[in-house]
Amino acid sequence: MKVYIIGAGPGDPKLLTIRAAELISSCPVVLYTGSLVPRDVIAMARADAAVIDSSGMTLDEIIEVIVAARDAGQDVARVHTGDPLIFGSTAEQMRRMDRLGIEYEVVPGVSSFSAAAAALRRELTLPELSQTVILTRAEGRTPMPEGEKLRDLARHHATLALFLSITLLREVCESLIPEYGADCPVAVVYKATCPEQKIVLGTLKDILERVRRAGIKTQSIIIVGRTLTATDFADSRLYAPDFSHRFRRAKVKAG
Ligand SMILES: C[S@@+](CC[C@H](N)C(=O)[O-])C[C@H]1O[C@@H](n2cnc3c(N)ncnc32)[C@H](O)[C@@H]1O
Repeated sequence: MKVYIIGAGPGDPKLLTIRAAELISSCPVVLYTGSLVPRDVIAMARADAAVIDSSGMTLDEIIEVIVAARDAGQDVARVHTGDPLIFGSTAEQMRRMDRLGIEYEVVPGVSSFSAAAAALRRELTLPELSQTVILTRAEGRTPMPEGEKLRDLARHHATLALFLSITLLREVCESLIPEYGADCPVAVVYKATCPEQKIVLGTLKDILERVRRAGIKTQSIIIVGRTLTATDFADSRLYAPDFSHRFRRAKVKAG
């Protein structure tokens, strides 16, 4: 018996990995984070599978389902949205399973921040502009550790991808303006890859009003940084004609 902690991706069932699809359609128990995993993904479960929505459960209740499956010798597909190891609350489940001696495996998924970047068709890392992406959130009921408040992270001027923060957009903008500038580009991607997907573009100064007008209140990724609009960035060295690497010799001399 094994528990498969599966990333279901951002919404579009076609973005499931083949491994995720195989496991969801073969495990006798499918335990999914109901509020976020799309119905089409869960519809892949076999007809006789026990399909259980964990959105109303406590951690103890989730573990009870897993223990019951273990006692019955049944594999469990534990399905999470996006990638299960990013803001997935999966570490606490793995810790319980370690203590109980229950075997598990993690199947990665397409995270919503990747899906948002794809929807925007923007590379989040550009030569000389930003070579760092910070995956984070605004401080809400979950306190941020020392040194990780948005004002601290802003000092890096890196590209930011904010999860779980759309209701705190005002605070996000206020925290970032001192370092990024009021004209810094911001994109909000609501329900990336889903039929309801919406994209709102703006700056730290006006995004709040634009998002309000678009009626977006939940399930969004906020991306902040100059990579969103830059066009005058340097070409990468990777494809430069005077640059050699393991798979290609330079075609012209450097200089
Ligand atoms: C509990 S976290 C889970 C993140 C997930 N593990 C991932 O890798 O995308 C939920 C947050 O992820 C973001 N999110 C999840 N799916 C999304 C989607 N399709 N479009 C935009 N944001 C999404 C939102 O910020 C949402 O509040």
